[in-house]
Amino acid sequence: MSLLFDPVTIGTMRLKNRFVRSATQDFLGEPDGAVSDREVALYGELAANEVGLIITAHSYVQHPLGRASVNQNAIYDDRFVAGYRRLAAAVHAHGAALVLQVSHAGRQTPPDWPAGQETVAPSAVTDTSTGLTPRELTEEEIWSLLDAYAAAVGRAKDAGCDGAQLHVAHGYLLSSFISPYTNRRMDAWGGSLENRVRILGEIMRRARRAAGDAFPILAKLNSTDGLPGAGYLTLPDVVATAKALENWGIAAIEVSGGIREAKGVMSAPGVVRPEQEAYFAAAATAVKAAVGVPVILVGGLRSLAVMEKVVSDGAADLVALSRPLVKEPELVARMKRGETAQASCVSCNACFNPAGLKCWLPAK
Ligand SMILES: Cc1cc2nc3c(=O)[nH]c(=O)nc-3n(C[C@H](O)[C@H](O)[C@H](O)COP(=O)(O)O)c2cc1C
Repeated sequence: MSLLFDPVTIGTMRLKNRFVRSATQDFLGEPDGAVSDREVALYGELAANEVGLIITAHSYVQHPLGRASVNQNAIYDDRFVAGYRRLAAAVHAHGAALVLQVSHAGRQTPPDWPAGQETVAPSAVTDTSTGLTPRELTEEEIWSLLDAYAAAVGRAKDAGCDGAQLHVAHGYLLSSFISPYTNRRMDAWGGSLENRVRILGEIMRRARRAAGDAFPILAKLNSTDGLPGAGYLTLPDVVATAKALENWGIAAIEVSGGIREAKGVMSAPGVVRPEQEAYFAAAATAVKAAVGVPVILVGGLRSLAVMEKVVSDGAADLVALSRPLVKEPELVARMKRGETAQASCVSCNACFNPAGLKCWLPAK
């Protein structure tokens, strides 16, 4: 049996194997952001098929500015706890764990939805992919965001989730704070790396008060903005951020990369050969060498052989998949039974479809 089926521990979470479903927006939430029956069924199916840890779609912590899309799940109010309780029960019924990803879309709030939606960010840096310039957050708004994130983590615990994950990746609000490209502030929240990551420390402190010391808080961390040239997030800054997160009590770090302006970096298209897989492995190796907490690698993992090598080479302790599990929710169970050693996903990215999460690739 593959070493990927060995149990592993993240904080107080005992996981049956090393397979993680990375956070994946499914566009299947209720219009107000509540968890839907279709989501309960989707998560239950993944758990029934041997995914050890399921990370939810990003759930937004502050209404309405933090919302990224239609039918996105929300966690900005206590009324959303009941839905996550159902999701946790559906996952726990199969011996899997559920971690709730908490997020704020920041400068990547879509321009078209809702119409006229204001976008806020650490600094007023124009998004070159949309031409939109966000408004700089006031100091007072930043303090209210810290409370919103902490309350969201507290709700994850109240719902019976096994942990929460701070979304510090992909150009959303928290990753835009840590990058010097999107954070040009001159106050205590910008400038030096220490100031740029301060928001994470402040959230961790408050989240601990809301959820207690034992509740695992993970982070999905950008390892690069994904744009060429100087003035962007650097790997030394990422490694230092990972160390700071560890000092603040983070339970595990998932390494990802890319912002919306850097097309094809987060979810690289056309990953079909082993050498294209694991495209953030070098960054994960650097992070893992610097921290003692478990590291999760995401990005283009498709074959059992590459995933095993990632773990045996010490690039990461766990492997996370998104698109392959959209196409084949049963993939991990089939790998366990020895029926396949390769995902059939061709990374066409048709699954980015607000009509609802499924593989939209036309059958040949
Ligand atoms: C449809 C879709 C929705 C996604 N939603 C999220 C999300 O809510 N939060 C997040 O951190 N990443 C999200 N991602 C990124 C994935 O979790 C993952 O980092 C990326 O697709 C690379 O992994 P993969 O090659 O296994 O797909 C999404 C990806 C896809 C395809």
